[in-house]
Amino acid sequence: MSMQGAQTAEWFNRARAALVNGVSSGFRYLGDKDTLVISRGEGGHVYDMDGKRYVDFQCAWGPIILGHADPFVTDAVVAAARQGTTFAMTQQREVEAAEAVLAAVKWADKIRFTNTGTEATMHALRLARGWAGRDLVLKFEGHYHGTHDQLLFTTAGAPPAHLGSRLRPIPYQASSGIPDAIRTYVRTLPFNDIEAVDDFFDDHGHEIAAVIVEPMAGNAFGIPPEPGFLETLRARCSEYYAVLIFDEVKTGFRLSLGGAVETFGVVPDIATYAKALGNGFPVAAIALAADLVEGWKLGGIAQAGTYSGNGVATAAAIATIDRLEKTDAFQRIEKVGTALIEGLEGVLAEFGVEGMVLGHPGMFSVYLGEGRPTEYRDIADHNARLYTAVVEGMIGRGVMPCVDAREPWFTCAAHTMEDVHLTLEVFAESLRESLARAGTLPSHLDEPD
Ligand SMILES: Cc1ncc(COP(=O)(O)O)c(C=O)c1O
Repeated sequence: MSMQGAQTAEWFNRARAALVNGVSSGFRYLGDKDTLVISRGEGGHVYDMDGKRYVDFQCAWGPIILGHADPFVTDAVVAAARQGTTFAMTQQREVEAAEAVLAAVKWADKIRFTNTGTEATMHALRLARGWAGRDLVLKFEGHYHGTHDQLLFTTAGAPPAHLGSRLRPIPYQASSGIPDAIRTYVRTLPFNDIEAVDDFFDDHGHEIAAVIVEPMAGNAFGIPPEPGFLETLRARCSEYYAVLIFDEVKTGFRLSLGGAVETFGVVPDIATYAKALGNGFPVAAIALAADLVEGWKLGGIAQAGTYSGNGVATAAAIATIDRLEKTDAFQRIEKVGTALIEGLEGVLAEFGVEGMVLGHPGMFSVYLGEGRPTEYRDIADHNARLYTAVVEGMIGRGVMPCVDAREPWFTCAAHTMEDVHLTLEVFAESLRESLARAGTLPSHLDEPD
C-alpha cells in the first residue's frame, strides 16, 4: 500500500523527473510509492502535499529541537538575510554565535563553524591527524560520522555477520567509490567493549591519531554508553597522545545544552556539533580543547569553507541557543519524551512483545528484540519486520517516526501531551494490526478495547 496521497504521488513523480530518485539525500528515498513530499512544517508537525498532518518524530533526523519554523529563529534568520549572508571576512553574527556556543560548550577553548556534520567530522579528523602526526583512526561499529570517505565504514547498514571477530573486527565499507587505501587507516571496534579498547591500545596505542565516537549511538538505536566506557576512551587517548573526538552531531544541543559532554561528564579533545545547533538551518561547529587550537593556529593543517559562519546560519544558531537557554524547552522535551518512553514500553508489555525503549527523552529508539543491547552486534536479530510494519501503520494514521528502527525518534519542544496521547493510541493500534496480520496477536487481545 502506498504512503502517498494523490497530490503527494504527483509531486513525487515531478521530483523523480528532476532529482535522482526524487531526493537530495540518498537516505530519504523510501521507494517510489512511499517517499513523501512535504509542503510545510509547523511546531511538532509536518504536512504532505495532500495536506495530511503527521506528528513528526523524525525532526529532520535530529535538527528540529524547538519545532519546525520556530518564529523566534525565523525572525532572526530573516533579519540576518536582509543584511547580507556571506562575506570574505569575519562577521558580527559569527562572533556572537561562537561566543554563544562556547558559553554552552564550556569545556572548549575555541570553535570553528562549518555547514554540515560531514564537513565537521572531516575537518576534525584531519586536524587530529595533523596534530598527532599519525594516520590511524579508531571508530565504533554502527556509528555514523557523515558521508566523506574517511569514516564510512561499519555504519548502521553493515551486516553483523560480516564484521569478523570482536577483538579484530573487519571494517565494512559502506559505499563503492572509496579507495581501498583508506581502509588501511581505519579500525573498528564494538561500542561499549572496554576490553577490546584496552587490547587495541595495548597493541596500537602509539599508532592512533584519533578515536571518534558518538557518545550515545545516535545512528544505532540510541544505545547509551555503559558506565566506564567513555572514561576508558578518555584515559587511553591521554595515555597515548591520541585525540579523542566526540561526534555530537546528534547529541549536541539535544541531550542538554552542553550535549553529551554535560550529560555523561567526559571531556573530549574535539567535538563536532551540527543538527540541533541551528534548529534546521545548516550550521555546524568544531569545538577544540586549548591544546588542539594550536593545530590550526600555527597553520599547515587546512580548514576552510566559503559558507562557514555565514550570517543566516549563525543567526539561527544564536536564536536557537537563546531559546534553549532562556525557555523551558528542555523541560518540555523531557516531559514529552519521558511520557512517550514510558507509554511505548507500557504498550509493548500489554501486547506481550519483547523489547524496550533505549536512549534519552530527546532521542530514543524502540528496540524489538531480546535483552538490552549495548552495542551494534547485539541488534542483529531485532524484529525489523514487525517494527517497519508498525511504523508504516503509524504513518498511515498520521504519526511519523523513521521506518528504520535503528534511527531514533526525536522529540522537540513543540511536541505536546496531545501528540503523546495520539502517538500512544496509534502505536497500540498499529501494533495490534501488525501482530494480527502476522498471526501473533495474543488471543485475549484480539478485540479492540
Ligand atoms: C553522528 C553524526 N555525525 C555526522 C553526521 C553527518 O551530518 P550531515 O548529514 O549534516 O553531514 C550525522 C548525520 O546524521 C550524524 O548522525
